[in-house]
Amino acid sequence: MVNKSVLSVRNLSKVYKGVGHEVQALKDVSFELYEGELIAIMGTSGSGKSTLLNVLAALDEPDKGEIQLYGQKQTEMFTEPNATHYRRDKIGFIFQAFHLLKDLTVEENIALPLILKGEKKSYIDEKVDEMLQFVGLLGWRKQRPVQLSGGQQQRVAIGRALITAPPIVLADELTGNLDYNTSNEILQVLVKMKETLNQAIIVVTHDPHVAAFADRVLFFHDGQIVNEYDCSGNQAMDDILENFGKLLEFKV
Ligand SMILES: Nc1ncnc2c1ncn2[C@@H]1O[C@H](COP(=O)(O)OP(=O)(O)O)[C@@H](O)[C@H]1O
Ligand SMILES: [Mg+2]
Repeated sequence: MVNKSVLSVRNLSKVYKGVGHEVQALKDVSFELYEGELIAIMGTSGSGKSTLLNVLAALDEPDKGEIQLYGQKQTEMFTEPNATHYRRDKIGFIFQAFHLLKDLTVEENIALPLILKGEKKSYIDEKVDEMLQFVGLLGWRKQRPVQLSGGQQQRVAIGRALITAPPIVLADELTGNLDYNTSNEILQVLVKMKETLNQAIIVVTHDPHVAAFADRVLFFHDGQIVNEYDCSGNQAMDDILENFGKLLEFKV
């Protein structure tokens, strides 16, 4: 099977300028993301992981470099209204802090992207039912976020990010606030979704158990990709974790 490239990231660089100092958050970052692929990004705090996701979601503009979507160079993706259209049509973004709207119910939170797209009510109802089933929250549809556990809230956030079936899903520390079992459950939802929709997913994580779910892991340090590890095939979890340990050792 030859997988299509969804994103080609070429030599991305980004500098944040402060008063009297600057931080090079990304230095010449290049990689390919394929359809049906789950990439995990690991690395020390401040190594540029969130900056990369923000750039890929057109929330932040790089200083240099190029992004291709399905082999097409995206020259104006950071200019409005292109950035908004790109985010709405191509990207599902899942944050560590859920970012749910507290006054809306579970089903209203999940429906939001379709409402904003101006879809018909009958279509929205059908999609929301499907999604509630998918993330296991059918019995919770009328609840508000505050009535839910952390894992349930993150499942609402996943439902909302994926309701439009975006081809690219970006998740920044999506299990960062969750315990081990709940993280596992969330990852199963994401992997099941990827297998159903053949999406391309990037997950930033500090948790090696989460990264071990990925097909490929990119290790970041000081704004650069310093290592890459292929987790596909039938490797035992313990072997993968041991190899991660070695790859992470260069850090102090
Ligand atoms: N909006 C910003 N303004 C200035 N500096 C920033 C901003 N966002 C991130 N940085 C800096 O860029 C570097 C990379 O940050 P970030 O991408 O958030 O790293 P990570 O997600 O890997 O922890 C850090 O040194 C951080 O302090
Ligand atoms: Mg971060």
